[in-house]
Amino acid sequence: MKQRAYTVRLYEYDQLEELSEEQVLLVNSAIKAARDAYAPYSEFHVGAALRLANGEIVIGSNQENAAYPSGLCAERVAIFYAGARHPDVPVLSIAITAIREGIVQEEPVAPCGACRQVLYEKESQGEGSMELILYGNKKIQVFSKVTDLLPLPFKLENLS
Ligand code: THU
Repeated sequence: MKQRAYTVRLYEYDQLEELSEEQVLLVNSAIKAARDAYAPYSEFHVGAALRLANGEIVIGSNQENAAYPSGLCAERVAIFYAGARHPDVPVLSIAITAIREGIVQEEPVAPCGACRQVLYEKESQGEGSMELILYGNKKIQVFSKVTDLLPLPFKLENLS
């Protein structure tokens, strides 16, 4: 028997001012996206903003539906939109935030399992890693790669 351990390194900040200008811009784009979410059922408004390798910022917000499972999370809306508009451009960074009752949540919100899998696949299409910025009003967490949040992803190679 072998015992193995995974180490996750994350960077925690108290306020937006501690981040780089590029990161602040992405967080602000995610907040703006969250304000435009379509979430009449959960009233939990999530925004995601991606910085692409070509310098563009692509945003997404959760899109709900009366047939609940037909809705989609903000992160996947953003990633699929980026894939449709800029098929071969890697995503360098994603900022995620959530708003309830008009107020940005104090604690950062981490992507759900299905979104982590989708983020992983997008990351693995490029050469480098994708930074994740989870933004809360009182706490900001930054991870430097998707596998920090999904250490054992299902991979393309698993299919062959
Ligand atoms: N949601 C996201 O958009 N991203 C996540 O990572 C978690 C949850 C959305 C889905 C649903 O519209 C609402 O938040 C409540 O679950």
